[in-house]
Amino acid sequence: MIEHSKISKLSQKNLIRIENLTVEDINLILDTAKIFQGSNKEKNKSMPLLNGRTIINLFFEPSTRTLISFEIAARRLGADIINMNIEGSSLRKGESLLDTADTLNAMNPDLIIVRHSIPGSLNEIASRISCPLISAGEGINEHPTQALLDAFTIQNRGKNFKDITISICGDIEHSRVARSNYHLLKKMGAKIRFVSPNYFKPTDLDQFDVEYFDNLEAGISNVDIVMMLRIQNERIKEASVPSANAYFNDFGLTYEKLKRAKPDALIMHPGPINRNVEIESSLADDLDKSLINEQVENGVSIRMACLAIMTK
Ligand code: CP
Repeated sequence: MIEHSKISKLSQKNLIRIENLTVEDINLILDTAKIFQGSNKEKNKSMPLLNGRTIINLFFEPSTRTLISFEIAARRLGADIINMNIEGSSLRKGESLLDTADTLNAMNPDLIIVRHSIPGSLNEIASRISCPLISAGEGINEHPTQALLDAFTIQNRGKNFKDITISICGDIEHSRVARSNYHLLKKMGAKIRFVSPNYFKPTDLDQFDVEYFDNLEAGISNVDIVMMLRIQNERIKEASVPSANAYFNDFGLTYEKLKRAKPDALIMHPGPINRNVEIESSLADDLDKSLINEQVENGVSIRMACLAIMTK
């Protein structure tokens, strides 16, 4: 078993934005995840590096994958993890977000994991706590551990980032996954395309070094990886989005449209998927092409790596 003392530190105290990480930081997390990937396939998955450590999950938005995989990751590492029930907390009695941060900090946790809808809220919380903070997704800003598990999944398929083109497709404007993946894949040397209907074209497109397409078939032409995104209905204020059927006809990925990508192109999606909205249902389940389940599985190893590294 690897010793905690042998794991290196990240250049940052907190993991809030991929944008702030170095290539060495990213490689440290990917390489460490590789160690845990082996143990996660064993019958006994325990790697108790974090015995006696206390971790708090603080999720202000719904989650299945991120919440549960952080919890599994912490438990496999032997840490004590508490999922704070926001609805049952004193936030509902008027306690402010920052007073909540002060209160949790007073109990001496070793790490706090936060998902919040408001851009900037995670830095505010981080400024009030003594321990490191890991983002589990912040508004439309970033979702760093999703991009790390996506990169790990691509790497596991034997791809060299410098040799591949990836199309990130769909609701780019409201997607923190698109932003984190952009920063990570760019740092690692991949070519990136943003592909969206005009109503989901990012208003800050000039901030990204990408090829932009407003047509799905043209946008995925000859690429190695097609990453589809969910429509982030919870963040959309405008009424400009068409019906699910109309969106699927125009921008849903189907077997037919996928013929434009390389013959061995792989499909990714951070989940949750909306079948027959952004992706044809049977294509999402096609294990020869779809990496969706691998992404979820790899999320546990990546989050174990993040917990082990951030608690150094
Ligand atoms: N990909 C992702 O963040 O999924 P959850 O919202 O289920 O955590």
